This record gives sequence, C-alpha cells and structure tokens, in this order.
Amino acid sequence: MASSSAIRQVKLEKECELRVEVSENAPLRLRLLNGTAEIFGTEIPPEIWLSFPPRLKFAVFTWYGATIEMDGITETDYTADETPMISYVNVHAVLEGRRNRAKASSSGDAEASQGPRVIVVGPVDSGKSTLSRMLLSWSAKQGWKPTFVDLDIGQGSITIPGCIAATPIEMPIDPVDGIPLEMPLVYFYGHTTPSVNVELYKVLVKELARTLERQFSGNAESRAAGMVINTMGWIEGVGYELILHAIDTFNANVVLVSGQEKLCSMLKDVLKNKPNVDVVKLQKSGGVVSRGAKFRQKARSYRIREYFYGLSNDLAPYSNVSNFTDLFVYRIGGGPQAPRSALPIGAEPAADPLRLVRVNINRDMLHLVLAVSFAKEADQIVSSNVAGFIYVTDIDIQREKITYLAPSAGELPSRFLIVGTLTWLES
Ligand SMILES: Nc1ncnc2c1ncn2[C@@H]1O[C@H](COP(=O)(O)OP(=O)(O)O)[C@@H](O)[C@H]1O
Ligand SMILES: [Mg+2]
Repeated sequence: MASSSAIRQVKLEKECELRVEVSENAPLRLRLLNGTAEIFGTEIPPEIWLSFPPRLKFAVFTWYGATIEMDGITETDYTADETPMISYVNVHAVLEGRRNRAKASSSGDAEASQGPRVIVVGPVDSGKSTLSRMLLSWSAKQGWKPTFVDLDIGQGSITIPGCIAATPIEMPIDPVDGIPLEMPLVYFYGHTTPSVNVELYKVLVKELARTLERQFSGNAESRAAGMVINTMGWIEGVGYELILHAIDTFNANVVLVSGQEKLCSMLKDVLKNKPNVDVVKLQKSGGVVSRGAKFRQKARSYRIREYFYGLSNDLAPYSNVSNFTDLFVYRIGGGPQAPRSALPIGAEPAADPLRLVRVNINRDMLHLVLAVSFAKEADQIVSSNVAGFIYVTDIDIQREKITYLAPSAGELPSRFLIVGTLTWLES
C-alpha cells in the first residue's frame, strides 16, 4: 500500500494489475509509458495522460506487461498478480463463439439467430458491474454492439439511480466518462430499493424486456450481439425472487454468479430443467472494493449531479418555472390506504401497487427528482419509458409556481411527470 504524491512509475508484469483508489479530494493523472494495458476491458492509449476523478476505484490490467506512470495522491495503490481475468476472458471467448454462430444462422430462425443473453448476479460488492463492463467492452472491441441492460436501481451505470435502463454499447466503455448518455431506453421506478414496490419493479422489468424484444426482432445485428444484464446485489428473499424473475423475463441463457457458492448452487438447482441456461460460477476479484451504505448514498447523489451538471461541470442545466396547472404529476402505487375499519368485514386493505394517483404539487416535492414520461395519456404512464428528469428547486404555493432544473431549455417533452421518493440535495 502506498500513498504518495510524487510522479512515479510502476512496472507491471504480464497478467498483473495495478489497483488504485483515487483520493477523496483530488484527481489522479495516469498514463501508459510502454506495453499495453486496459481498464475494465477498455484499452488505454499510449503516452496520453488520463485524469481520474476523486474516489474512483479502478485497476489497470496488462496481458503482456506494461509500464504505468502516475501523478497525484492516491488513497491506495498496489500491484496484484492474482486476478480472475483469465477466467473472465474465457467467458468472453465462449460468448464470442455464440455471437458468431448466431450471426451465421439464418435470421429467420428466431432461436438460432439470438446471441448470448448474459445475466450477472451476486451479492453487493462482488464486482458485477465491473464484470458486465468488461464483457461489453471486449465485445464492442470486436465490432459487436451488445445491449447493456442495467436492472440495478441502487447505483445506475446508464442513467440516474431509481431507474432501470438499456442501451447498445457501440464502443469500449470509457474508463473515466463511462457510458455516453445518448438516448438510452429508461423506465423510472422512482425509489432506490425494490422493496418499496416490488410489483412495480417487476412490471417495469417486463416493459423493458418487451421493448427490447421488439427492437431485436427488426435488428439481426443487435440480436446476434446479445445482451449483458447487470443486477442488484440483493440475493436473499425477494431479491432472489427478482433474480429468477429477470432470468425468466429476459430469457437469459448464461447466468454468471460472482463469488457466491450458495447462490450458484441454488440457481443451478432451480434452472436444471432448462438445459439451454448455463449457470457459471466466477471468482470474485480480490480488487473489488467494499463500499459502505454511506458511500453508496454519496455515489447516488454524484450520479444525479452528473446528469444535470456533467462529470466535470461541463453541462449547464436550465432553471425553468411552470404554473402548477401546466404539469400533471403522478405517483404509482402507494396512495392512501383505506383503514381496515372502513372495509367490509373480512376484506383485507390492499393498495394496488400499480394504481396511478394524481398528486397536487406541494412543498413536499422540494428537492425531489421527477421523471418526464413519454406517455401521451395518463393511463400509459406505467408502461411508458421516460425522456429525462427534472429537479425541483422551489415551490411557490401562493403564486402556484414550480421552479426546476432541466437538462435543456424550453418546454418539457411532456406534461406527465412521475414522482417517487428519489431526492437529491445539491451540494
Ligand atoms: N480489480 C479491481 N481493482 C480495483 N477496483 C476494483 C476492481 N474490481 C472492481 N473494483 C471496484 O470495486 C467497486 C465495486 O465493484 P462493482 O463492480 O461496482 O461491484 P458490484 O456491482 O458487485 O456492487 C467499484 O468501485 C469498482 O470500480
Ligand atoms: Mg453494481
């Protein structure tokens, strides 16, 4: 472990990696002096200084040897010669074989022309997002455009937390900038844990899968490239049920289990009568960093900030003002429940988890992040994807005006907004 600030060089032997945690307050500069190296599946260019933002945790891995130069303070940086990278790249090779077979088959055969549908599961901090990213970047490097599906409402690598989303990956993912925010397919769940409304979560997963299925049916190229589905780290109880639901809904045929013997054997057991589904256990990388609840909360907040302001403050959101009467805000499910005493004898109070409730704009909406739905009618809200998000910065009850940040100026693409419990405190 080291923590120094001078410019220094690190020589990496073949199949070794340099694991770095950038410091809390300052970015780190790094460049490749010679050899070849990659960060989570994306090759880094020679000679050019790359700047990594505070708190980022990453590894520079080399297959054949490399020399790296670093400039700046790190929380930690150390070299590791034991990594699961060989097993990961072996999985990639198997997936490539399936993509090639799918491409070669006649596109009339729906089954045979479908490339691998990979789902990555495992507990929190087991390297799921990182593995998904590597598989996508390696495959994009070979010229495929696999679809990345992110079902993790807690972190969100495609868009802000509280959403599930999908996007084609056309280029290896940039180690600093991540996935470009170009028109992903996004459904707004509105909460950062699925237990708030499990039924809604499942419905949105189904909608997302259905939309992708439609897109694939007219696109042999993305069909053959297949998908990589990233999941949440919730693997017990309802979390386990949601993993099975996702496998089933997306017709996943490769299940990668990161570092969890028990989950792997449970999945093997329930999926044993589906011979076309392979369950593969993969070793968790020793480099995966555990992040506490507080870190996750902060990461969520940074992610929302990034949506409005850009990764390095390079975007300028617009502050808009609307009349209360111009916007229709809806909540999905929840709503006030009838008390047991008001129900017929024997009836159970049940709130329909998918019930659409129109909510009046009030002070409680301050600092909430709302989604702008693509729905044309209110009754399409649950099944519609969203155009983007706004952040409520002021509510003037007297004048009935709402002030909010939006990524672009002018009128919102729709008057239908969805509210959940997603908050953000600009800091
Ligand atoms: N080999 C590695 N070296 C250094 N950091 C790593 C490595 N693999 C993963 N990480 C970091 O560990 C953290 C957790 O990994 P992640 O893939 O997000 O886990 P999960 O998605 O299972 O919660 C992330 O910040 C990631 O960048
Ligand atoms: Mg993750």
